[in-house]
Amino acid sequence: MKELIFATNNKHKLAEVTAILGEKVKLLSLADVGLEGDIPETSDTLQGNALQKAQWVYERTGCDCFADDTGLEVEALGGRPGVYSARYAGEHCTFDDNINKLLGEMEGQTNRKARFRTVVCLIENGTPQYFEGQVAGIILAERYGHEGFGYDPIFMPDRFAVSFAEMPAEVKNSISHRGRAIAKLAEYLQQGK
Ligand code: IMP
Repeated sequence: MKELIFATNNKHKLAEVTAILGEKVKLLSLADVGLEGDIPETSDTLQGNALQKAQWVYERTGCDCFADDTGLEVEALGGRPGVYSARYAGEHCTFDDNINKLLGEMEGQTNRKARFRTVVCLIENGTPQYFEGQVAGIILAERYGHEGFGYDPIFMPDRFAVSFAEMPAEVKNSISHRGRAIAKLAEYLQQGK
């Protein structure tokens, strides 16, 4: 079975991606390969950050690996927080701080349209390539649900009547930005067999 390192320390993401890719590849986390420390993500694009994170792992291991970078792009805010979604409320902020900031900015806003966008960068035999996934929805006026992470409690995907945080993981994975990007990665890996 092909081994791939996933450049993340986020347990939620690791669980999500393992659920999708688990049968096709042996997924190794950073901890599994003894890598520690914060991976730099200083680019101003999702693609740039995904490449930077994957390269960081590749330079230290020489192994095939991939990284993802996600942004929540809110139409009424000109695409913000976008690539800055993780640190929207400032350095060392929590998911809750970010949600509070976004809800504050969206107060009174009638255009609630938003989308999550994920770019995955795979480095295979030293060569990078990209896979993208998106999901469109709206920003709710308050939090609903306790599943998932990040902005999940205030994001409701189109054609659903519940937030991401109210869905079982399998349902979120089947329609989410990261789920779709990882499904494309899985399809690519499958072809190579
Ligand atoms: P990352 O680049 O994948 O780490 O994502 C950046 C930020 O986007 C995270 O810190 C979360 O706040 C948010 N985010 C990423 N994926 C999700 C998701 O599936 N649900 C909700 N928020 C997410």
